[in-house]
Amino acid sequence: MALNPQYLSYIKLVEKALAARFGWQTGEVMHDKLAAAVQRKAERLSLDEWDYCQTAIKSPAELQALAEFVINSETRFFRDPQQFDIIRQNVLPQLVKARAAERALNIWSAACSTGEEAYSLAILLQETLPADAAWKVNVMATDLRGASIIKATQGRYTASSLALLKPAWLARYFVKAATVDGGETTYTVLPEIKKLVTFRRANLYDDEFWKSFTRPFDLIVCNHLLLYFHALAAKHTVGKIVGVLKPGGVLTVMKGEAMYVNHGNLKADESFLSPFFKKL
Ligand SMILES: C[S@@+](CC[C@H](N)C(=O)[O-])C[C@H]1O[C@@H](n2cnc3c(N)ncnc32)[C@H](O)[C@@H]1O
Repeated sequence: MALNPQYLSYIKLVEKALAARFGWQTGEVMHDKLAAAVQRKAERLSLDEWDYCQTAIKSPAELQALAEFVINSETRFFRDPQQFDIIRQNVLPQLVKARAAERALNIWSAACSTGEEAYSLAILLQETLPADAAWKVNVMATDLRGASIIKATQGRYTASSLALLKPAWLARYFVKAATVDGGETTYTVLPEIKKLVTFRRANLYDDEFWKSFTRPFDLIVCNHLLLYFHALAAKHTVGKIVGVLKPGGVLTVMKGEAMYVNHGNLKADESFLSPFFKKL
């Protein structure tokens, strides 16, 4: 869609504010999405587009609301089955061996959206940990979007987001609702899986957030986040992630995101088809 030059100049100012606050990259695709969002938001607040843009730039709360409106939250359980297979068959067994003395594993789903990725990891932990020994495990799951975190905490999903889940795991770790929600049957994650996951709202491009860590992680899953970041934000975020990974800990990202992971303390594991990196 060709935006008129005046409107495009407003949109570019908002885009710059979003890039500075949330690390997002700029470009034509973003212009169209933002223009549509600004129009909707301005209408709702009975403002003209320019007044809305000024409000969004000046008000941190409105900029956050706009960001949450345009964000791509797409996700599902076991979204990249190959990556999750590697976590189940290689990464978790190796970590279980390496942490056998302390019997504790600390995992992070860094941009968890509505929770499917974090619960997928919790299911793998339940499947992989030795049944005879008590392990202390936690999956921390963070996302920028408040509404996503609320939905994640509820742990209720429709069949479409569960399509890649093994039927045996659906039967073992979910309760099917007695009623149908908006035409689709819903499934709720069992408490034994829910209790392994802690959800938290966070902006990963905010240095304050990175000061809040108390324990380093054994495994960090950062899928479909770095591709939305500008080069500086991606480099900065990878540096921060390395800072909260334990030595021997593992970072994984999506296939198209491996190019952003370039750090002297990370070594790529070339034996896998998905990108996995070990902290030296
Ligand atoms: C496409 S979803 C990916 C969800 C999941 N990781 C997956 O791969 O299925 C991208 C997520 O990144 C989150 N996000 C975008 N910018 C962020 C930021 N600066 N800090 C934290 N989360 C952010 C969005 O809210 C969104 O939920």
